[in-house]
Amino acid sequence: MELLGVIGNPIAHSLSPVMHNTALAAAGKKAVYLPFLVKHEELAQAIYGAQALGFTGLNVTIPFKEQVLPYLTELTPEAEVIKSVNTIAFIADRIVGHTTDGIGFIAAAKHELNFDFIRKTVLVIGAGGAARAIVAQLLAHQCRVYITNRTDHRARALLTLGDNAREQMTVVPMQLESLREIMDQVEVVINTTSVGMAKPAAPTSSNSQDQTQVPIPAELLLPQHLVIDIIYNPKQTLFLEMASQRGCRIQNGVGMLVWQAVKAWEFWWGITPPLDKMYQAVKASLS
Ligand code: ATR
Repeated sequence: MELLGVIGNPIAHSLSPVMHNTALAAAGKKAVYLPFLVKHEELAQAIYGAQALGFTGLNVTIPFKEQVLPYLTELTPEAEVIKSVNTIAFIADRIVGHTTDGIGFIAAAKHELNFDFIRKTVLVIGAGGAARAIVAQLLAHQCRVYITNRTDHRARALLTLGDNAREQMTVVPMQLESLREIMDQVEVVINTTSVGMAKPAAPTSSNSQDQTQVPIPAELLLPQHLVIDIIYNPKQTLFLEMASQRGCRIQNGVGMLVWQAVKAWEFWWGITPPLDKMYQAVKASLS
């Protein structure tokens, strides 16, 4: 029996166990995938413990994607660029860190929309960990990248991602007039912020405030734009709903969630999981 899991804190909300276990059962693989709540001060023990117990691999989620780096023996080129790891493979004495977030994002657009990012002009909203993973892949696909973020200096920090980032990327202030100037050239708009994400309802309010917000004004969107929101809960954010009303093609975050897992299977075993089962498991959990 092979052992796998996901480490994070919190971890109860993670859809990875149901997604992977459904696919493992369908593929007839003798393996189990478990969620592990890890204390901040016990991260090293968790990783070395999994190695000692003979785990095949781990996924890593918030808040450990960067914190795991000191415990790994090597990084793949993708993880090296963004200094972030969401997938670990234990191979003999080696602990290899990889990131499938960005490549999963690109693969989802290819698979769901037959969309190819090569040399596209893209507006990325947000500058956190998810944006970093996606932007690194956009740069690798020779995209022209505009980036806008509530906090300007975090967007500028992404200009150091790789050798050509400064030539391929421009930081745009998050203001209507500045954004309006570039929207004609933009082909894809990607929301990587948490604006619009479902939150557990607070006892005092029946609805989360963020769900009623959009990351940039929808009036900026043009029918030529493909609009991707990496949020998967709710399945359709207000931003995607408005984009759709404005005639844009839209994609939600389910594809990225599934495809980062697909890419983890490829990393661990060199095989593709039963895709339809993964999609079904995620959609059933979300509905
Ligand atoms: P992740 O690793 O999931 O990307 P993160 O590193 O916390 O998460 O980044 C969250 C992103 O959402 C950031 O770009 C953040 O903007 P700041 O850099 O200004 O913090 C953005 N974000 C979160 N809440 C926001 C809000 N209410 N309005 C605008 N941007 C928001």
